[in-house]
Amino acid sequence: MKRLIKTLTCTVAALAITSAGQAGEDDELVINEELEISTKAVASADSPLDELVSGWRYRADETQELQMDDFDNPSFIFVEQAEDQWKKVEGTEGKACSSCHEDVADFKGLRTVLPRWNEAKAKVYTMENYINDCRVDRMGAEPWKWAKGKMTAMTALISVQSRGMPVAVKTDGPAQAAHDLGKEIYYTRVGQLDMACSSCHEDNYGNMIRADHLSQGQINGFPTYRLKNSKLNSTQARFKGCMKNIRATPYKVGSPEFTALELYVASRGNGLSVESPAVRN
Ligand code: HEC
Ligand code: HEC
Repeated sequence: MKRLIKTLTCTVAALAITSAGQAGEDDELVINEELEISTKAVASADSPLDELVSGWRYRADETQELQMDDFDNPSFIFVEQAEDQWKKVEGTEGKACSSCHEDVADFKGLRTVLPRWNEAKAKVYTMENYINDCRVDRMGAEPWKWAKGKMTAMTALISVQSRGMPVAVKTDGPAQAAHDLGKEIYYTRVGQLDMACSSCHEDNYGNMIRADHLSQGQINGFPTYRLKNSKLNSTQARFKGCMKNIRATPYKVGSPEFTALELYVASRGNGLSVESPAVRN
């Protein structure tokens, strides 16, 4: 116990976590002056959180504003690229996404339920898994790299069809084992700083860590455009970044561990609106 307290004190000192309210937490998100986004939601009875809060609420006014109009949101440059890609014939079968999927708008609602159990493949599938199955098995094309530009642009185009709809990820039945693994990873302390996801995103959201305002680490806005690297970032790339920040060895994007973690973290946000593609710093 003594050792634990000591580690905690050191960690907090090293990272300078301080309590601070910041302007922006009470702002409401309306996109293009018409689409109302629920950036807060009631937590379910079994949730460890008192209330669910989107990461948007913790960002500075200037960052929040970028997400309030699609003309200002830099993500849409990539969404437009994906619209072109959608119609592009690639692979040995001579097909484009549009050869089989009539309209990308048909994917409305898909983002709210992913990741989910894929019965045919007998494992949990993310949106990236579905897209690459189509590229490889149905188009005879190269799979896209998980966290690279073409994939994140396509996941943004598909996700934006569900914008404003509540996240509703299922974790029971055959998905239970992955949920439990994801939960275990979420609460396991790792790395030189000996911290878990929960140390920051559950125990300290609302507090400042150095100059950053800590959120609940929700993924309802992914893929997310980050001002820091001027591109869309996939959920699992973000997990990787957080693990590196605590000097832990991250899992690989697309690994069963990160997919389990994505499922679990998504379920912690059940009820929040899909915001994808969001803007963060
Ligand atoms: C040769 C036809 C074909 C092509 C080309 C194709 N798909 Fe598919 N796609 C399918 C079929 C069939 C399914 C399975 C539908 C189902 O199970 O309801 C599917 C499923 C999907 C799903 C999961 C949908 C869901 O509701 O579970 C996504 C996402 C998807 N495709 C995206 C793409 C993208 C992006 C491209 C282009 C890179 C593409 N597909 C190209 C035929 C195709
Ligand atoms: C040392 C503290 C710390 C730990 C531990 C940590 N993160 Fe983060 N994380 C941050 C900070 C700082 C940010 C950027 C500000 C924010 O949104 O909280 C962030 C952002 C995120 C975001 C983006 C949220 C959004 O709204 O865009 C996600 C998702 C996330 N973290 C998930 C995780 C997961 C999963 C773990 C465990 C593998 C983890 N984090 C561990 C500090 C941490």
